[in-house]
Amino acid sequence: MSIMPATYLTRGVTFVTGGARGLGNAVAVSFAKAGATGVVLVDIQGKEAMAEGAKNVESHGVECLTIQADVSKETDVENAVAQAVSRFGRIDYAANFAGIGGQAGSIANYDVDNFRRVMDVNVTGSLLCMKYQMKQMLQQDPIAMHLPDSETGRVPQRGSIVNCASVNSIMASAYSAAYTASKHAVAGLTKVAALEGRQHHIRVNTVSPGFLYTQLISNGLGPAGEAGETKWTELEARQGRSATFDEIGDAVVLLSSPRMSLLNAHNLVVDNGFTVNEMSS
Ligand SMILES: NC(=O)c1ccc[n+]([C@@H]2O[C@H](COP(=O)([O-])OP(=O)(O)OC[C@H]3O[C@@H](n4cnc5c(N)ncnc54)[C@H](O)[C@@H]3O)[C@@H](O)[C@H]2O)c1
Repeated sequence: MSIMPATYLTRGVTFVTGGARGLGNAVAVSFAKAGATGVVLVDIQGKEAMAEGAKNVESHGVECLTIQADVSKETDVENAVAQAVSRFGRIDYAANFAGIGGQAGSIANYDVDNFRRVMDVNVTGSLLCMKYQMKQMLQQDPIAMHLPDSETGRVPQRGSIVNCASVNSIMASAYSAAYTASKHAVAGLTKVAALEGRQHHIRVNTVSPGFLYTQLISNGLGPAGEAGETKWTELEARQGRSATFDEIGDAVVLLSSPRMSLLNAHNLVVDNGFTVNEMSS
């Protein structure tokens, strides 16, 4: 019996948006640990945050390219993909994690500019990223899979894309109109892309994290101060415990592996049972 090192399954080039920090950076690090040959971090952040994000990847001995780009701008995304391909030759795994929470507010008093910006980054951003990632993937040969000789007939993988939604892609919370609408839309876009990609051996899935204390959260979708802390404690109690960022990173690596060949158009909820728990703890 031959044992396949897990690292054989995610060799290849990874392109992560929102990769400078938070969950996107954790995804990039998980790919670096799992054998990625190159990692591209795309983010709107400046040099300092980018360098910090790159350091986390490079500490695993993997080459990392950083690209400053706004995912809601088509030319930025087109250039980012072109730069990645010019450096590494291809994109095997894309993870679209750039996102914003926007401001909380009741629909009766909703700030429409806030709504538009959240939709622009979270939804149009995901569409633009997939547009140029898929264009690239369609041109490249499938990734070499290094499978044992005993495993024949596995469908090749030309590329995998994982879009980041949220538990708010399948449920809602009051005062989160823009965020909830945007994450439902991301899950919908993923399904369309998966149906278009499958005949070309491109898989497209969504990952929906539960609750992790990142800057998106501390910047405040919910109430600030003591009320915010109480709300957070309640959310984590319903989730069963605090989650670590690498638990999301590792789930994305798993979804992306060519061994997951029939897993397509899926919305993988990674929340330790938050969404199925009718109790508050
Ligand atoms: N933290 C959570 O509990 C949670 C839960 C579910 C889903 N998510 C999703 O995870 C993803 C990552 O968020 P996070 O929680 O790590 O927060 P974060 O704020 O730390 O990370 C978001 C990243 O996206 C980048 N970004 C924002 N706007 C951008 C733009 N226009 N162009 C390029 N980059 C941009 C930010 O600079 C940042 O690096 C988001 O899509 C978020 O909606 C987070």
